[in-house]
Amino acid sequence: MYLGIDLGTSGVKAMLIDDGQRVVGSASSGDVGTARLHPGWSEQDPADWIRASEEAVAGLRAAHPAEFSAVRGIGLSGHMHGATLLDADDAVLRPCIMWNDTRSHREAAALDADPRFRRITGNIVFPGFTAPKLAWVRNNEPDVFARVRRVLLPKDYLRLWLTGEHLSEMSDSAGTSWLDTGARKWSAELLAATGLEERQMPGLVEGTEAAGILRAELAARWGLGEGVVVAGGAGDNAASACGMGTVREGTAFVSLGTSGVLFAANASYLPNPESAVHAFCHALPGTWHQMGVILSATDALNWHSRVTGASAADLAAELGGTLKAPSGVTFLPYLSGERTPHNDAAIRGAFLGLGHESGRAALTQAVLEGVSFAIRDSLEALKSAGTTLSRVTAIGGGSRSRYWLKSIATALSLPVDLPADGDFGAAFGAARLGLIAATGVNPTDVLTAPATAETVEPEAALAAAYEDAYQRYRRLYPAIRAAY
Ligand code: XUL
Repeated sequence: MYLGIDLGTSGVKAMLIDDGQRVVGSASSGDVGTARLHPGWSEQDPADWIRASEEAVAGLRAAHPAEFSAVRGIGLSGHMHGATLLDADDAVLRPCIMWNDTRSHREAAALDADPRFRRITGNIVFPGFTAPKLAWVRNNEPDVFARVRRVLLPKDYLRLWLTGEHLSEMSDSAGTSWLDTGARKWSAELLAATGLEERQMPGLVEGTEAAGILRAELAARWGLGEGVVVAGGAGDNAASACGMGTVREGTAFVSLGTSGVLFAANASYLPNPESAVHAFCHALPGTWHQMGVILSATDALNWHSRVTGASAADLAAELGGTLKAPSGVTFLPYLSGERTPHNDAAIRGAFLGLGHESGRAALTQAVLEGVSFAIRDSLEALKSAGTTLSRVTAIGGGSRSRYWLKSIATALSLPVDLPADGDFGAAFGAARLGLIAATGVNPTDVLTAPATAETVEPEAALAAAYEDAYQRYRRLYPAIRAAY
């Protein structure tokens, strides 16, 4: 048996799989709060991650006690880029500054202006990445910065709790702006440019390798044997790719979670920072991936839900199952700024083209279309980075909306595959990595793709209307930018 733990932005999910990769069960704890003290800020308390992980594991143990006691390997996944700052006693120095926190946009621009960052990391220094957060702490909380003994990514803080080790792996570390992404090692030069040294960083392994053994105290408390291996694991997007079998060149998925991601697996390292595409290491040795990232996907619908007082599911259901032509109302989903393709932390969202006739459903339609067009922007960015896709698989909470899937297929002009019933997300991918690290089996034998239950085709009759609406959408960003 193998356990996957996915530290999500709004909660922890734990999943148990057996030697044949069948899902035995899963349990979640949704109790992780985000503090937004100022516009653009987003922080979490790492103690909440441990509490939520304990709760999710307890739920899984209670439901499957016999199977749980046979766990031999654990894999970790988590939201990327967060800065978890520890002192010499491994005590947390301040709340974690999260991936969707853009306070460090000035520091990010300053680091990005140093050509070494793009050359060595293969990426823009985005405000959400880790290095500019440390630069912000150095400028604004110098006492905290002076006490930083170790910088850990969120899932690696869970590893410290699980194993006592300071270790990370390549896929998550590629999102720090300190990794030499081609060479798969820390860049002492880039760390020095932010006032840090390599000894403040965790050791590095591949995602499929062992990275610690479960502490005896936890193993005893959870009723497990000795020597339970904790795998390197992966950042949540690479972990989802492991769950979906998106590891071979040419395979891709679109994830509609809090953020939206268009993810393509690459057999080689293909950086193209100018297009704002992320080029990161994959969780398997010697492989990489590219992705376009939009900061608000289901988060945009959730915002609309908060404002209207209707649930996101009800709002989506109100549209029915048949795709409509864009109504002329356009929504820009830049509620917390945007990464791909704009790299603009200051931009904010907008509704345009409202009329007296624009009711709640028209606004919902515009919100879903706006996210679809933002993902189309990522597709164009991937194209300019040399990657052509012929189909994508959809995952994430938003993929439960049939309307949204039709809209994405039509906006991308690509068939969208839906995996056969099952949960192939980051927790499953993490459990698979736990299996690989514990047994030493060949990763590509394990990381296979699920069967396709159904393919959602683009709506040919609406292709022209969607293209017009997309071109209008594209013209609006520079106009809004200028108006700001
Ligand atoms: C990726 C990114 C998000 C987070 C949260 O670069 O910032 O997808 O990993 O899920």
